[in-house]
Amino acid sequence: MTIESQTMQDGHTWDDASGPILGIETSCDDTAAAVLDTDGRVLAEMVLSQADHTPFGGVVPEIAARAHLAHLPELVAEVMRRASISFAQLGAVAASSGPGLIGGLIVGSGFAKGVAIAQGVPFVAINHLEAHALTVRLPGLVPGGAPFPYLLMLLSGGHSQCVAVEGVGRHRRLGGTIDDAVGEAFDKAAKLLGLGWPGGPALERMAANGDPARHNLPRPLRGRPGCDFSFSGLKTAVAQLIAKYPPGALPAQDAADIAASFQRAVAEVLADRASNAMAQFAKLHPPSLVVVSGGVAANATLRQALQTVAAEKGFTFVAPPLRLCTDNAVMVAWAGLERLRLGLTDGPEHAPRPRWPLDASDMQRA
Ligand code: KG4
Ligand code: ZN
Repeated sequence: MTIESQTMQDGHTWDDASGPILGIETSCDDTAAAVLDTDGRVLAEMVLSQADHTPFGGVVPEIAARAHLAHLPELVAEVMRRASISFAQLGAVAASSGPGLIGGLIVGSGFAKGVAIAQGVPFVAINHLEAHALTVRLPGLVPGGAPFPYLLMLLSGGHSQCVAVEGVGRHRRLGGTIDDAVGEAFDKAAKLLGLGWPGGPALERMAANGDPARHNLPRPLRGRPGCDFSFSGLKTAVAQLIAKYPPGALPAQDAADIAASFQRAVAEVLADRASNAMAQFAKLHPPSLVVVSGGVAANATLRQALQTVAAEKGFTFVAPPLRLCTDNAVMVAWAGLERLRLGLTDGPEHAPRPRWPLDASDMQRA
């Protein structure tokens, strides 16, 4: 479904002559702030990744919210210092306002609204998924720019979806995971292999020494129509392989072979699903860019698999720098600029929301 953008003014005006924009990201476990000038150039940015969750093997929402509250004010002050601007010079403030963990969203969007009200500048409530989707349009990332429409493969710890990005506030979800997100699958497989959290990077390192052909693990949904994903069966298959060994007695080479076989299975599934997503996209629009985003885009094997299938389908594969693929505030500030340029702002009554599907991003704003 395509939703037309609606203009919602809160009385504050913005134009290209207004000052820089402050972006704030607190939707999960990264506390981030960035300042961009009105052309989208990054004046300063910082990401503080919370280490507080490591002993728990996953993000603990209450700990995350408290950590955002503890760190955000000083982080914003430091980013403003590095950008060499004062709060009075700001032209607008944007914050991730969903989807995500509600405690963190309340902290970040509440802080942003406070700054916006104090300075008399517009506040922009950002859909975090739209921020990922628009990142590739940051000036200088793609030679010649990244005009709409293009295909987004969002592959993170919390989200896996294929989206036709047709405009600001106009997104068509072509498919997504029906159980685990792809990063979650990496994290669970890594945990079974005795690796720390988050497990994706450690599993990739382990897989480098393994034989990806040793285990013929399932390729869920491969060959089926559509571009939905499913990863829970793959995780169960890994658990069953490991259960054959006595606890704590998995030899290093066997572990590496399981990691490599798992990674190959995910790569083949993603390539198959991406191929179908590109075919679906091509029914609507001429082939253009296929953009990967999310932390899983760091994985070299997966990137290679996606790049190959993109070339086969006549698409140009784009992977933004990793720092912009994982959660960050540059993408939030940039999405704010994109919205401001269309006259889209939000009032202080805008409530952060834990669920906020991308293809309803404007329908559900009011
Ligand atoms: O986008 P992100 O930083 O945070 C959110 O989930 O929003 O993604 C983190 C996810 C984790 O599940 C992590 O294990 C996975 O990305 N990841 C990787 C790699 N690096 C990070 N998965 C596979 N291979 C990697 N190299
Ligand atoms: Zn994210």
